[in-house]
Amino acid sequence: MQYSRPIVLVGMMGCGKTSVGKQLAQLLGCDFVDVDQWIETKEGKTITEIFEQEGEVSFRAMEMQAITYILAQGRTVVAFGGGAFMQEPIRQLVKEKAISVWIKADFDVLLERVLRKKTRPLLEKGDKSTILKQLLSEREPVYALADIVVDSTNGSHAVVVDHIIEKLNHMDNGNYS
Ligand code: S3P
Repeated sequence: MQYSRPIVLVGMMGCGKTSVGKQLAQLLGCDFVDVDQWIETKEGKTITEIFEQEGEVSFRAMEMQAITYILAQGRTVVAFGGGAFMQEPIRQLVKEKAISVWIKADFDVLLERVLRKKTRPLLEKGDKSTILKQLLSEREPVYALADIVVDSTNGSHAVVVDHIIEKLNHMDNGNYS
């Protein structure tokens, strides 16, 4: 099977994009890039510091710039931050250059996972559960535009990876490259 395009993982904070992405890249024998980590390295700041010092609008511009660069590098597995796919120009770029995968998870699972960390500035603005619920309802219809949808609610990351590969193979038979 041949994936000449980058494979982009989208979905809410806590859905497992980074862990799944690392395993998927290892199985496919290609590089893995986490967009948030890429931005942190480039800026020499954490995502929290970028939000605090420069604001969300600047962060979104950095996401656009990072993703434009990363998607031009060819065959890679790329984990997006949860808000990146909400930007229409980014979705357009992904449509042109990549295969998108939405890692879907139920609200309770996401909440349980995000409560463990303080690294997500959007959730530090108020009650995490309320904010997460609001974001989830706004974003789910947009994530649903991805080429592939896999549910991670009940499975381990390894199971999610298997499902992604199954669906990629299915697309590959349809000559998606
Ligand atoms: C965000 C999700 C975060 C990070 C930033 C904004 C969002 O990434 O990009 O805090 O808007 O959902 P993860 O989805 O990897 O937590």
